[in-house]
Amino acid sequence: MRGDEFGYHVLEPPFPEDFVAWYPYVRRDVLADHPRWLSWLERVVLHGVPGVRDRMIAARHRESGEWVGVVWTSVSVTCPEVAHFGWFYVEDRCRGAGVGGRVIETCLSTLAAEGVRVIMLPTQLENERAIGMYYRRGWELSIADPTGGVWMVREPAGFYQRYFTPDATRPLQTSTPEPADFVALDYLLSRPQAAIRLLPLGLTGSRRFISFVHDWGGAEHVVARQGGKPVAFGAAVRTDRGSQLDAFGLERRGIASVVRALARSVPQPYAEVAATDGLRRAALEDAQLRLDTVREAVVAGATMSLCRYVR
Ligand SMILES: CC(C)(COP(=O)(O)OP(=O)(O)OC[C@H]1O[C@@H](n2cnc3c(N)ncnc32)[C@H](O)[C@@H]1OP(=O)(O)O)[C@@H](O)C(=O)NCCC(=O)NCCS
Repeated sequence: MRGDEFGYHVLEPPFPEDFVAWYPYVRRDVLADHPRWLSWLERVVLHGVPGVRDRMIAARHRESGEWVGVVWTSVSVTCPEVAHFGWFYVEDRCRGAGVGGRVIETCLSTLAAEGVRVIMLPTQLENERAIGMYYRRGWELSIADPTGGVWMVREPAGFYQRYFTPDATRPLQTSTPEPADFVALDYLLSRPQAAIRLLPLGLTGSRRFISFVHDWGGAEHVVARQGGKPVAFGAAVRTDRGSQLDAFGLERRGIASVVRALARSVPQPYAEVAATDGLRRAALEDAQLRLDTVREAVVAGATMSLCRYVR
């Protein structure tokens, strides 16, 4: 069996019926342990997500017509330069023949022709074969979580900082996130500096796509946008002490704007932030929160001073 015995197709919704019938990741036996991923994938494959362009790059045997390999990719209207890549699969009997490599190449050339510059993906550290394939094609490890989940990103140098740093002369708008924001938010939160910051809310990119793993009904969320593009993100969860806020962005103004919006809409807002985190402390103060107490705490195994801010 050789990779050139197959044709490589870029499929758009509505996906062909025989493809959906074969698609492995909407099968309950494959994703039995991950009901949330299953329901999210069913939405992508069967119904579509508003503002998001989901496609499947799929390999089909030329003679038999059987589907044998696929990867999902997703681009949203709010950040057309950034794409998700995931749920990569080649039938066992066809592995090692170059099908997976050709699926990736087809995906890369399709996205590049449309102006996509960043492609991010989640995988597992133990999947050396997949990591090797990605690494040889330009992806680099971005972040890992203690359970072995890793993110890899393929992007031009400096893109992340440029993308999420708003123009200081233009206004920011805040509102609750839309599905079309999720691709950018996953990218924003898939960086090392994001992990510790949103740790109290369990909202880090290293836990895989926040767009479908996080419980959006369990907290209030706000996005700050400039020109429609997300640049900062915040969340507030109810605790027995009030509403704990947390926010992430690369610069002060974006963080302050999401904190301000959240603090206005939740009861008894407070935030806890490391004493050394000057950027976020300044943003909280910009949003009219004031320092209340400082305490020693153990966060992710390290003892640190945590400053509590209240309104
Ligand atoms: C990962 C997967 C999609 C690859 O598909 P495939 O058709 O076997 O891929 P190819 O034959 O094109 O390429 C295999 C690559 O692995 C390398 N490889 C082959 N056997 C290997 C081994 N035992 N260990 C490490 N690398 C190996 C090859 O050198 C080739 O790399 P290259 O193209 O950079 O030279 C397929 O193995 C699969 O479906 N695995 C299970 C699901 C999975 O792990 N998905 C990825 C989740 S991120």
